[in-house]
Amino acid sequence: MGLEGDPNLESTEESIVKWIWEEISSSWLNITLTVAIIYLIYQILFSSREPAPVEPEKPMPPLKKQDMTLSELKVYDGESEQCGGRICVAVNGKIFDVTRGRRFYGPGGPYSGFAGKDASRGLATFSVDVVPEDYDDLSDLKPSELEQVKEWELQFSEKYEYVGRVLKPGETRGSYSDDESDVSEMDHEKKE
Ligand code: HEM
Repeated sequence: MGLEGDPNLESTEESIVKWIWEEISSSWLNITLTVAIIYLIYQILFSSREPAPVEPEKPMPPLKKQDMTLSELKVYDGESEQCGGRICVAVNGKIFDVTRGRRFYGPGGPYSGFAGKDASRGLATFSVDVVPEDYDDLSDLKPSELEQVKEWELQFSEKYEYVGRVLKPGETRGSYSDDESDVSEMDHEKKE
């Protein structure tokens, strides 16, 4: 036999509803809480608010291949007016466009100290604060530290676009054609 129409069941349901109603209406606090809960449930289930559309960040066009002096590199710190938000970092004499790693190198990022700088010495010595102002030939680094720098260079080259080389004082720029991704050592003549 089905339970539908069972007078015992009906009276149990009635008494549960009655008990709930009595509980709720027993104090203003309970009434307020119940209204709040119903409102929240309604908001969750039926709210038609669309989340604000997130504009996908447009990737920047690649930076023209070029060699840079340290002061030219400095412009690409992600903050200067001229850089247009682009960030470059040099590792082991090679400049990389790390703009897509903005969360690391951008303002407030853990490695923002490297933005627009030669990060080699800092990476070798595991210190974000070690960023020399002048050209650094790294000649005093220990072999293990130099090895570390090379490993970082490899990591950067796998993740970021290569831009060009850091120019030593007196070194002339390499020439890059539009579709060239690297430049041969022959293009770098030292000014005597
Ligand atoms: C407590 C110390 C540190 C912790 C826990 C830490 C943690 C991390 C983690 C988890 C990543 C990978 C992030 C990802 O790929 O999503 C990372 C990347 C990196 N870390 Fe650290 N780090 C520390 C110290 C340092 C120091 C001292 C330096 C440099 C001197 C450094 C330089 C870097 C660099 C250059 C990257 C690569 C970012 C990129 O992909 O462009 N880190 N770190």
